[in-house]
Amino acid sequence: MKNTKKLHVGLLFGGNSSEHDVSKRSAHNIYDAMDKNKYVVDLFLIAKNGVVLSSQASRKIFDGADENKVVANEMKKIDFSKPLANISNLNSVNDIDVFFPIIHGNLGEDGTIQGLLRLLKKPYVGSGILESAMGFDKDITKQLLTYHGIQNTKYILLTPANYKQWNYAKLSHQLGKLIFLKPANQGSSVGIHQIHNQSEFESGLKDAFKYDYKILAEQAIEGPEEIEISILGNEHPIASQLGAIKVPKQDKFYTYQNKFVDASQVHFEIPVKVSQKLTDRITKMALDAYKVLGLKGMARADFLVSSSGEPYLGEVNTLPGFTNISLYPQLWKASGISYSDLIERLIKLAYQEFDRQSKLRHDFEPLD
Ligand SMILES: Nc1ncnc2c1ncn2[C@@H]1O[C@H](COP(=O)(O)OP(=O)(O)O)[C@@H](O)[C@H]1O
Ligand SMILES: [Mg+2]
Repeated sequence: MKNTKKLHVGLLFGGNSSEHDVSKRSAHNIYDAMDKNKYVVDLFLIAKNGVVLSSQASRKIFDGADENKVVANEMKKIDFSKPLANISNLNSVNDIDVFFPIIHGNLGEDGTIQGLLRLLKKPYVGSGILESAMGFDKDITKQLLTYHGIQNTKYILLTPANYKQWNYAKLSHQLGKLIFLKPANQGSSVGIHQIHNQSEFESGLKDAFKYDYKILAEQAIEGPEEIEISILGNEHPIASQLGAIKVPKQDKFYTYQNKFVDASQVHFEIPVKVSQKLTDRITKMALDAYKVLGLKGMARADFLVSSSGEPYLGEVNTLPGFTNISLYPQLWKASGISYSDLIERLIKLAYQEFDRQSKLRHDFEPLD
């Protein structure tokens, strides 16, 4: 029998975004699907307060222990007078060959964790620092899409410096009567408001500013069909079939409430049948976006399709939900790539990208 060394994978999950619990479920499913003859998996849960728990403590939570209690107990063991105390449990990472950060939203998808992993000089699944940050920022994403001719909705950027020059009448003159306000760097529909008048503009903006200093006032696609597609790869990405999210008619849009609090009324159609022409357009737009943003590993691209059948690229998610009912793996399953095959491919892609980067960059080599 061939004596192959098992690969040590560091599974990073949790984080402080509203998708903390989704991340835990994603990590659980990834862990369960990994072939233990090939992989040794070390777990690192990032608690909501930013403390990275030890593998042993993370495992306890994985096995069903109460997270708050385990975190409280672990906090007592960490010397917070020392620098980098909150990430001190990563001191066991020398054993780890590759990281799989499955942390959705803030601090996970926005380049932060990717920066840490680069400092640790470890390969990791998914996009790099800049590309993650660009893909997370809806303003930067849209600027790049527009520059490269990829259709997306028109918007005006509101900031603390300029928002006083705007009101609902001025915005609607340029964007139409129905407008979306959304923080540039958020997710999970948090801080997003659909507005139709001045008072909704004022209250919506006040709330949106709680999450970011950059707020997009965006042209709305009325009663859109929401279509999603999964992308996989580095330089030569491939695209899955399309899926649709059916939001109940009585809900205004795909909100935090119907995403996470009670998702029982939302239905996924996987795959969804739309015309060949629309399928081709969406696939090309998603692959083009992936390339112009320089994304690596994986991304899910979300589209809004107008009643006249025009596709608008809404956003990209560089570490999308990865539970067994999440769209990203489900779309691949429908396209012939199983959940565990997907994980293997993502790990291979992480290595490929790391090798490519290592040849280009000379991080911390001695100066001569
Ligand atoms: N311009 C728009 N027109 C119509 N619906 C929109 C628009 N922008 C956002 N939405 C609705 O809000 C939801 C969340 O917006 P999105 O930009 O995807 O932010 P998030 O990153 O929070 O998911 C979308 O799934 C859609 O239901
Ligand atoms: Mg979205």
